[in-house]
Amino acid sequence: MIKFLDLQKINLKHQEEIETKLSQVFRSGWFLMGQELSSFESNLSQYIGAKHAIGVANGLDALRLILRGYIEMGIMDRGDEILVPSNTYIASILAISDNGLIPVLVEPDINNYNIDITKIEEKITSKTKGILIVHLYGRTVFSDQLKDLADKHQLKLIEDNAQAIGAIWNGQKTGNLGDAAGFSFYPGKNLGAIGDAGAITTNDDDLAKVIRALANYGSNQKYVNIYQGLNSRLDEIQAAVLDVKLKYIDEENTVRKNIAKRYIAEISNPKIILPENPADVNEHVWHLFVIRTEKRDELHKYLTENGIQTLIHYPIPPHKQQAYKEWNDQSFPISEKIHEEVLSLPISPVMTEEEIKKVIEIVNEF
Ligand SMILES: Cc1ncc(COP(=O)(O)O)c(C=O)c1O
Repeated sequence: MIKFLDLQKINLKHQEEIETKLSQVFRSGWFLMGQELSSFESNLSQYIGAKHAIGVANGLDALRLILRGYIEMGIMDRGDEILVPSNTYIASILAISDNGLIPVLVEPDINNYNIDITKIEEKITSKTKGILIVHLYGRTVFSDQLKDLADKHQLKLIEDNAQAIGAIWNGQKTGNLGDAAGFSFYPGKNLGAIGDAGAITTNDDDLAKVIRALANYGSNQKYVNIYQGLNSRLDEIQAAVLDVKLKYIDEENTVRKNIAKRYIAEISNPKIILPENPADVNEHVWHLFVIRTEKRDELHKYLTENGIQTLIHYPIPPHKQQAYKEWNDQSFPISEKIHEEVLSLPISPVMTEEEIKKVIEIVNEF
C-alpha cells in the first residue's frame, strides 16, 4: 500500500538529530518556556521574516489567541464580524466563534479552492473587523487587491498559515503578509511536531505582548494576571523537534513541488481536474495535492483497491456540520461542489520514484 503520508519515514530522516535533542531535554529537567522554545521562536521569526514568533499549544489556539488579543486590545469586540472562507478546515471558523465573534462565510474560487477575493467586499458591514484568509492546501492566497480591500475598510488581515509554511507571495513568506498569522505543527503538516504544536507570527509589538500573556494564564509576571488567559504553551520537546525540522523545510517543500509538477505533467486522465499550477510569484508548498472529479467516491475506491491510500479534505463543509446547526440550511454551492468532488493524492518528502510512477499510472488507468 502506498501510504497517504508516511510520518514514520519522514521523521526517521532526522532520527539522530531529533533523538539527541530529546535526550538533552529529558536530562535537562526543564520542560516549558526554556531555551528550546526561545531558539525555535527566534529561528521561526527569522525564517518567516516577521518580528515576533510565539510558540503555542496548537494551530487552533494560535488563531484563537490572535483574535482574543485584538479583543483585549479593544480593536475587536464580541459580536463583531470576521470574514472567512466557507471552504476551509473547521478550525479557522472555530477560532472566530470561540471568541464570541461572528464568522461570515465567503465562497471560494472553484479554480484554486481559496477564498474568492471578488466576493469579499459585498460581505463587509459596519461590524466587520477582519478577514481571516486561509492558504488552503499550501497555496498562497494574497494579492494587492486583498491588501487594498483590508486597508480601505480598516480590517485586520489574519493569515491561517496552518497548511502553508514556506509558501511565498512576491518574495515574501506567508505568515508575513498580513497583520498576524497562525501556524499549526500538527504531525501531518509540512513542518510537523511529534504531538500538537502551533505558533503565531506578527510584526505588531503590542499584539505580541498581549498574546504572550494570554497564552500563559494572562500573565507576564508569575502570579500577576492581567487577563483571563489560557494555558497554551509550546513545550520544550515539541520546540526542540521543530527546531531540527525547520532547517529542512525548504528542502522538503521542494520535493513536494517536484512531485506536484510530475503529477500535473503526467496525469492525463480527462475525468480528473488537476490543481492549477500557480506562477512563481505565488508559490505553492503542496501540503495537499487535491484533484477533483465527479466520480470521486469511485476513484477513491479504485485507488484503495489498487494499493493507493487517498484522503478527502474535507468531506463535510463547515456550514453543514452539526456544530453550526444555524447554517445548515444555507447554501454555499461552490464549497459544496468542492467537498463532493475533491480527493487528495499521496504527496510527501519521502515518496519514492516508484511510488510516484504508480500513482500516476493507476490514476490514468481509472
Ligand atoms: C487550515 C487549518 N487551520 C487550523 C488548523 C488547526 O491546527 P491544529 O490542528 O494544530 O489545532 C488546521 C489543522 O488542523 C488547519 O488545517
